[in-house]
Amino acid sequence: MKDYKIALIPGDGVGPEISREAERILHAISKKYSIRFKTGCFDWSCDYYLKHGEMMPETALETLKSYDAIFLGCIGDANKVPDHISLTMLLKIRKGFDQYVNLRPINMFPGVESPVKGVTPENLDMVVVRENTEGEYSGAGGFFKLGQPDGFATQTGYFTQKGCERVMRFAFELAQKRKKLGDGNHVGMVTNCTKSNALNYSMVFWDMVFNQVAKGYPNIKTDMALVDAMTMWFVKNPEAFDVIVASNLFGDIITDLGAMIQGGMGFAAGANLNPEKDYPSMFEPIHGSAPKYAGKAVVNPVATIESVRMMLEHLDLQEPADDIRSAITAVLKRGELKTRDMGGTTKTHELGEAIAKQILSE
Ligand code: IPM
Ligand code: MN
Repeated sequence: MKDYKIALIPGDGVGPEISREAERILHAISKKYSIRFKTGCFDWSCDYYLKHGEMMPETALETLKSYDAIFLGCIGDANKVPDHISLTMLLKIRKGFDQYVNLRPINMFPGVESPVKGVTPENLDMVVVRENTEGEYSGAGGFFKLGQPDGFATQTGYFTQKGCERVMRFAFELAQKRKKLGDGNHVGMVTNCTKSNALNYSMVFWDMVFNQVAKGYPNIKTDMALVDAMTMWFVKNPEAFDVIVASNLFGDIITDLGAMIQGGMGFAAGANLNPEKDYPSMFEPIHGSAPKYAGKAVVNPVATIESVRMMLEHLDLQEPADDIRSAITAVLKRGELKTRDMGGTTKTHELGEAIAKQILSE
């Protein structure tokens, strides 16, 4: 069987302790299926910056390129390095490896409570396909006359035909696979997250591309929601969504809301995908590095373990991936282990150990 090379970048704050849980799950899968995961660990982080003056070496992407996938813990510790500097590392990898899809599933496990009334594992199952390389995150702009009364800043978003089209196609293909919320004429649904009532160039263009792409998928139902209204519908009728395609910034915002609906940041997993596999894809929980909790083992490892599941799925290891999902489900369903965010006292590694054990026992 093939060996897989996995790069681990634990990062800052709680990053190292959740990365250990990612490794623990890889070990369990490796043992059960005799798959070899050869891991390489990289200490790129704010501490690295303080020592070397950069978040990662110039050759970082070259180094990472030989890996099959990357697991990233979390980056950022504003007490050490300003966020807009430390987080360039994340954006460099996303853009440098053309990871143009940021895939963020929003669903729930049994035994988990949503702060939104009536939300259950049965009726919450949507996925946000966030554009991940351009748009509002293009990084173009500047400061002018800083410090003067007429000083100003500009920040330009680039929305390209290619960039919009490819992420939208991914969303439609995904809806075709998920087969959710169809009707007599459709097998699935894609909702366009937009703001074309106010953003009269970028989002009008985005809608135009969406409508062009949609024409190629007559069996997929389409809908649109302005991003502000979408936050309302997320809370009011989360069951009415299947696949949502959103620009970089809007996708960022609505997935934090999605995370809360699914029970909290501790459950929100994410994948930065280069679907063509020309470059390695990167998997990360969407929560931050929470420096104040570092070393306390209070963080919920499920978001991390779910991200590992998405990694295995991307590597076409579907059966091991499914095992991870059912192991998390079984452990949480028993309701004995609850981390701090779930109102309990279970430690990060204790929940991780229980899930690893469950994988091996199934
Ligand atoms: C995320 C994060 C990042 C983003 C930040 C840390 C730059 O919020 O992955 O959602 O905005 O993409
Ligand atoms: Mn975010």
